[in-house]
Amino acid sequence: MVSSGTRTESSADRGGGKGFAAAEEGRSGGTERSRSRSSGGCSSAASGGSAAEMAEMGWGRWYGRKELEAATEGFSRGNVIGEGGYGVVYRGVLGDNLVVAVKNLLNNRGQAEKEFKVEVEAIGKVRHKNLVGLVGYCAEGFQRMLVYEYIDNGNLHQWLHGEVGPVSPLTWEIRMKIAIGTAKGIAYLHEGLEPKVVHRDVKSSNILLDKQWNPKVSDFGLAKLLGPGSTFVTTRVMGTFGSFPDVPYNISCSYVAPEYASTGMLNERSDVYSFGVLMMELISGRTPVDYGRPNGEVNLVEWFKGMVANRRSEGVVDPLIETQPSIRSLKRLLVVCLRCTDLDSLNRPKMGQVVHMLEGDEFPYRSVSHYIFLEFN
Ligand SMILES: Nc1ncnc2c1ncn2[C@@H]1O[C@H](COP(=O)(O)OP(=O)(O)OP(=O)(O)O)[C@@H](O)[C@H]1O
Ligand SMILES: [Mg+2]
Repeated sequence: MVSSGTRTESSADRGGGKGFAAAEEGRSGGTERSRSRSSGGCSSAASGGSAAEMAEMGWGRWYGRKELEAATEGFSRGNVIGEGGYGVVYRGVLGDNLVVAVKNLLNNRGQAEKEFKVEVEAIGKVRHKNLVGLVGYCAEGFQRMLVYEYIDNGNLHQWLHGEVGPVSPLTWEIRMKIAIGTAKGIAYLHEGLEPKVVHRDVKSSNILLDKQWNPKVSDFGLAKLLGPGSTFVTTRVMGTFGSFPDVPYNISCSYVAPEYASTGMLNERSDVYSFGVLMMELISGRTPVDYGRPNGEVNLVEWFKGMVANRRSEGVVDPLIETQPSIRSLKRLLVVCLRCTDLDSLNRPKMGQVVHMLEGDEFPYRSVSHYIFLEFN
């Protein structure tokens, strides 16, 4: 059962959380709040960083293991929020009462502390209202932990696929809000940063939600930075996917763009594909792969495209949505789904364009002639 009950106040409720809330438009660089936190005493001795290095960070702080141990009541089971491919996530309360999520990364002996710091610093500076903010990290010996702002209303996967009763609390309007916010967060990673950031693991469990259903994209911190205009093969060595040793083992295969699965090459267009799958999931309430369904319905993308092609578009809407969407609004999201999952990556829109399409500024009825089958009766 998905619970909407909070164990803590939201960042907005905390008053002092305005620094994050104010990041309406994304910006790179520490918020006022995170700057003042970084100057408010740190555990440089414990984490091995010098004051000069910390000053350079300018966005958050380093935490000693002891500090995070205290925050999470000794990494107790009761504080475990969940576990993903990279490690266990704990809820924690820091000394200044800031509620955080501590991701204890799996033992990562291969990664030098310096390399880790460089990566963490790059993502720590990223601030946007639709991205989960990183407030600091811990690197002690082989220990690697990331400290995030705590998002208090679960993740999209839980709300779409958990036990929510006969009517989903996610109305069509809320789903549109989630779609637009998520698109904005990813668009910022792709188009608002230099160098751009490719997420690489866009999926429903990485879309966290607050009490107002604002989506916050998480785990972009585990992406690699791309140089301008380049496509590259990732060098992660944590594990393997298929016959490509460079593709992370825990990549969520069902969201993976076809060209990514077959070549291991990735760029922001593979994120766009994953976003398209995520949108199909959001509309239909179905998981990307569901072996419990009859033949022809196991693979969401296949089933979804078939339904639209057969003019059965209204049949893709989640039966748990009580009030049906308007045809115009449904069409708008369907076009986004189809264009983002185009097998030819070059035909996919950029995320900035997707935001406009979702907001209704740009609705390419005419320009996309092969989608005219979207016409309803
Ligand atoms: N900042 C956060 N605030 C609140 N809950 C969080 C936060 N970050 C992660 N979680 C929760 O912790 C749990 C584990 O997350 P984690 O990212 O480790 O796993 P995942 O998203 O399922 O898989 P992956 O490792 O591929 O991202 C999830 O339930 C997630 O919603
Ligand atoms: Mg995650």
